Amino acid sequence: MRSKMVALMAVGLLSLGGTAACTDDKSDAASPGGGTTRGGGGGKVGVILPDTTTSQRWGTDDPKLLKAAFDEADVPVDIQNAQGDKAKFQSIADDMIADGVKVLMTVNLDSGTGKAVLDKAKAAGVKTIDYDRLTLNGGADYYVSFDNVVVGELQGRGLVKCLEAQNAVVPLVADLNGSPTDNNATQFKLGYESILQPKYDDGSFIKGPDQSVTDWDNKEAGAVFTEMWQQTDRRIRGVLAANDGLGNAAIEVLKKDKMNGKVPVTGQDATVQGLQNILAGDQCMTVYKPIKKEAEAAANLAIKLYKGERPTAPKRVKDPESGAYVPAVLLDPTAIDKKNINVVIKDGFVDKKAVCAGRFAALCRANGIK
Ligand code: BGC
Repeated sequence: MRSKMVALMAVGLLSLGGTAACTDDKSDAASPGGGTTRGGGGGKVGVILPDTTTSQRWGTDDPKLLKAAFDEADVPVDIQNAQGDKAKFQSIADDMIADGVKVLMTVNLDSGTGKAVLDKAKAAGVKTIDYDRLTLNGGADYYVSFDNVVVGELQGRGLVKCLEAQNAVVPLVADLNGSPTDNNATQFKLGYESILQPKYDDGSFIKGPDQSVTDWDNKEAGAVFTEMWQQTDRRIRGVLAANDGLGNAAIEVLKKDKMNGKVPVTGQDATVQGLQNILAGDQCMTVYKPIKKEAEAAANLAIKLYKGERPTAPKRVKDPESGAYVPAVLLDPTAIDKKNINVVIKDGFVDKKAVCAGRFAALCRANGIK
């Protein structure tokens, strides 16, 4: 795509407008989880989501809930997904800017490419919102997310609770961290280490292997955890996994040695898979982040910017790289274990039918899932 753009630029075709020149590529950009309203014109809000493989949310929840929020306000929106491809992320942004979007909302795949996009948007007079992930040194106009340090604290406390419930004796704890290029992963880790470190310090837990998973890749997580498991002679007795996908990767490895359920594993996102792993007893907890509220808060800001207003935000966060403050909305996460799965279902975030399908029907009944 990029090389095509460059080639087109070289022959002076780009003056036709990004839209006409890139029709073919744009059609695959609108694949799963798109919820895309397209066509030329511009004067829309552009949204770029990161991938469809690292968490259920990006292909399912966020596009659906964002679309609903914009539709409700009758504001045209173009929601696309970069499918984990940084070049595609940038070319979608180029096309949206060429199309004349007024506001651009992005979930970056890393801060470098994220910042390049924000810079171009700003140069074109487009207002910008960092959605869920802060782009370091990016200088977006607004940031909408959860309190991600609190997310990590809930994971740390959840793991401690599960280990204590099992009367685990000086357990060896492994960390499967999120992507090293995602500022959220840094924040989650700050949160869970603040809970786990005192346990290492007082000798009640032992610090085990600690690794980040490139781009939150679930397959890589499986390989990383296999290595951890083998290198420790299968002595890991607790896994702090930064989201449900990474947690599931660890659970799959534990299953091979029938150690699933005996080694508590954490997660995040309250995905159908994560909740089912909890019901099965293989996952100790997840963190529910009400994406509807996040989507609505971000859409609300975008709609005001689209209408030429200058909305205020209740908080601000400091960009650790630039030192600048970004006006922010930060929402509250909730810890979920077997006892309160109903919170997620009652909120309409996951469908009971999906969670309680097949062999999970009996587990749902046994656990009072309504
Ligand atoms: C999001 C999580 C998600 C992860 C992997 C993070 O930035 O906050 O909800 O699980 O990325 O996609």
